[in-house]
Amino acid sequence: MYTRIPFVVVIALAGFSVRADEFYLGSIAGAVKNAVSSFSFGNVEVRVPLWLSSQQSKSISAAKIFLGAGRMKTLDDWVYAYTTTDNRGSYSISVPLTEASANYSVEFGAPNCNPTAISNVGVRANEETIVEELSFIDRSVTGPGIVSGVVRNALTGNPEGGVLCQLRKGSGIPIGQVVREVISAWDGTWSASLDAGNYAAECSKFGFATITRSGVLAIGRQTTINQHILITPLPKVGETRIILRWGANPRDLDSHLSGPIPGAGRFHVFYSNRGTNTSSPYAMLDWGVSSGYGPETVTIARQAAGRYRYSVQDYTYRDQQHSEWLSNSEATVTLIHAGITRIFHVPQRRVATLWTVFELNGREIIPINSMTNYYDSSTVP
Ligand SMILES: *[C@@H]1O[C@H](CO)[C@@H](O)[C@H](O)[C@H]1NC(C)=O
Ligand SMILES: *[C@@H]1O[C@H](CO)[C@@H](O)[C@H](O)[C@H]1NC(C)=O
Repeated sequence: MYTRIPFVVVIALAGFSVRADEFYLGSIAGAVKNAVSSFSFGNVEVRVPLWLSSQQSKSISAAKIFLGAGRMKTLDDWVYAYTTTDNRGSYSISVPLTEASANYSVEFGAPNCNPTAISNVGVRANEETIVEELSFIDRSVTGPGIVSGVVRNALTGNPEGGVLCQLRKGSGIPIGQVVREVISAWDGTWSASLDAGNYAAECSKFGFATITRSGVLAIGRQTTINQHILITPLPKVGETRIILRWGANPRDLDSHLSGPIPGAGRFHVFYSNRGTNTSSPYAMLDWGVSSGYGPETVTIARQAAGRYRYSVQDYTYRDQQHSEWLSNSEATVTLIHAGITRIFHVPQRRVATLWTVFELNGREIIPINSMTNYYDSSTVP
């Protein structure tokens, strides 16, 4: 079902060469901003260490590589896909895959900044994976800073106490050691003093799905507030849950789910038609806010045959034709479906009021990630 791209890679190892004529191609796209000023960060070095296959992962250290697309670089015995951010802080980087999917890390470097990475980025053949916007921290603001926020139950919007969050340095799903453990207080609040940097919090509680909240930001000698975390009761067998969170702006992002009603066209669940979980369409908006951050949570209680489509509309700025508010909102969608958790990040630096995130068809998850302008919330396609 995947087309293989004619893509010649010659790896000349010391003493012999390995030739592989066909690789899949995937790509990773995102943007970088300065953590303190929030301005776009241009000319940041972005690189992806390549593991072309598990067998080659060690021997590749001696390799020189010639790749048909993208820029490559060898350094410190590693081979990298390599690019730099443009003047809006954006980048897109092509990576080869030997299987239909692989996990890669994206590493960032710039003068006067401590290097950091987004780890465990799932890349799939012929797909562009959007990663979160990276907040890059200047060495002038190193040292410890305070981070704080509230943990909420995504189904009810209520604060959730007793949630254990394990913080690791880096973004995405870092695998390094846990640098701090915190437990949310009875009123859901959590805080920690951390060395300046990017962190990911892996949060768990009995009866809840374990969720990693990336993009926790500590800035030296400052307090960064509103680092909110959403956690959801474990979906029941057969249930699908979709959770949206974002930053302070826009105030009102809305979830839209459309899907099949067997024998009767399609339904559209959103804030003014909240659906139900006990009869058709067996899908409902559990909770929605219009004051920033989320949660907006949708549950499919019983999935019918056919296509479901999930979108996020910027209700606040829906009448603006040139708005980047949605694109710069840090909107993140967590999908828990058939025991799998997938996280989608809003494409950055784009003009749009509607983000069509993904479609579901049976067990298949189809990322869409299209960004368009769409005004009429009652007819979101
Ligand atoms: C990528 O990592 C996830 C866990 O983060 C794992 O479930 C998955 O199997 C990995 N995929 C590949 C192709 O290694
Ligand atoms: C329907 O949703 C309500 C509220 O979230 C929940 O309490 C109830 O258990 C759900 N019922 C079913 C059948 O899933």
